[in-house]
Amino acid sequence: MNADVAPGASADVLVIFGITGDLARVMTFRSLYRLEARGLLECPIVGVAVDDWTIEQLVARARSSIVGTGEPLDEEVFGRLAARLDYVQGDFADDETYTRVAAAIRGASSPVFYLEIPPSLFATVVKGLAGAGLTERGRVVVEKPFGHDLASAQELAAELHQYLDESQLFRIDHYLGKMGLEEIVYLRFANTMLEPVWNRNFVDSVQITMAEEFGIAGRGHFYDPVGALRDVVVNHLMQVVAAVAMEAPAHGDVGTITEMQTLLFRAIADADPQYYVRGQFDGFHDVDGVASDSTTETFCALRLEIENWRWSGVPFFIRTGKLLPVTATEVRLVFKGPPTLGFGLRDASSRPDELVIRLDPSTGVRIVLNAQRADAPKPRSIELDMEFATKGGEGPTPYEVLLLAAIRGIRPRFTRQDTVEAAWRVMQPLIETPGTVHPYAPGTWGPGEADALVADHGGWRDPWL
Ligand code: BG6
Repeated sequence: MNADVAPGASADVLVIFGITGDLARVMTFRSLYRLEARGLLECPIVGVAVDDWTIEQLVARARSSIVGTGEPLDEEVFGRLAARLDYVQGDFADDETYTRVAAAIRGASSPVFYLEIPPSLFATVVKGLAGAGLTERGRVVVEKPFGHDLASAQELAAELHQYLDESQLFRIDHYLGKMGLEEIVYLRFANTMLEPVWNRNFVDSVQITMAEEFGIAGRGHFYDPVGALRDVVVNHLMQVVAAVAMEAPAHGDVGTITEMQTLLFRAIADADPQYYVRGQFDGFHDVDGVASDSTTETFCALRLEIENWRWSGVPFFIRTGKLLPVTATEVRLVFKGPPTLGFGLRDASSRPDELVIRLDPSTGVRIVLNAQRADAPKPRSIELDMEFATKGGEGPTPYEVLLLAAIRGIRPRFTRQDTVEAAWRVMQPLIETPGTVHPYAPGTWGPGEADALVADHGGWRDPWL
């Protein structure tokens, strides 16, 4: 048996709780449509929500959602997707709802339940499913946040584990569906030129930037109690840290891959509040859903230390924020500077080599080197750039990858409770001692205080656009 694949794969029905909600509108229908177009959907899809909708209304919502994302709609493909859809109306707290779900899935032997609902309702739905005898052979897919700190993450898991084994729980972190993350791992371990320099002997520091030009309009109610650290650092950006820093898995099975990630997280020291800067964009309080005295951060920058042979002494700097000058996510390895040599190899304008892996808005690799140019007497920086889209085209979107993985039971695409807890443990000191939040003007790189973090390592580099 392939250990990557959960027992009972592949799904013979996909049940989506919260299908009338926002995530389904902006993400799920389009992803399902694209899977249908690629001929990868095989099972019926049952939506469950409290709204009193007819199946025609659900099909109409599916159509408007797909079109609304800008996806060109092929009627034949849409017709096939629409034919898979069914709808069950019900209150999630009512046992009758689960009886109706059981009738709708007509004894499926390998159901997948996807909960696109607030985490406060996870336990209610899972309990209802268990009560109707639906969890024994099923898998349950849940969306972040998985708690708001270490203790609440443990409580949530304990609640769900009453009804489900950990192997049945598929936690989505959509960064695990991004092509760029796989590219980091492949670049590192499939290239003899790169792996030997990927450590403290050659690397001075690592910068991870996730910049977003847009704000939180329309999401104030969600964002205000959460903030940047919980929204994207403890989950998405920790996945990036894992891909950059973990050791090569000795085997491709889920246990080994996840274990490498867990071991890496264990080696990360508790984050130090002294190296944590929070910012809030001017005008945050005017956003609908945000408290007028909110001190939530919309920007944060921090420094992590990894205490192992590969990384000891190499700071990992992370920054992210809303209303920054650009939208771009990248990892940048900044190498140590070349030695000063007698024939003047080092002049004011040469800079340390860098290797950049861009995850968003498109994937690519850039290597920054010093080289001779005809227009300068001494070496200058040059860039070797490669856009992955020029080699094989654009890959599938993260939610296509993850929905298909959930349907097929491919576990390495999902996060395990021990890594979730390890990431919270690292961030817990920052949650307990968050410090002041500094204002910043929209369209800037956050508060000036963040610059001090990287001052000894050449400052923040502007992302490769
Ligand atoms: C989500 C966060 O999980 O990830 C958002 O809630 C953020 O605030 C988004 O904008 C970023 O995802 P992506 O794939 O656009 O980088």
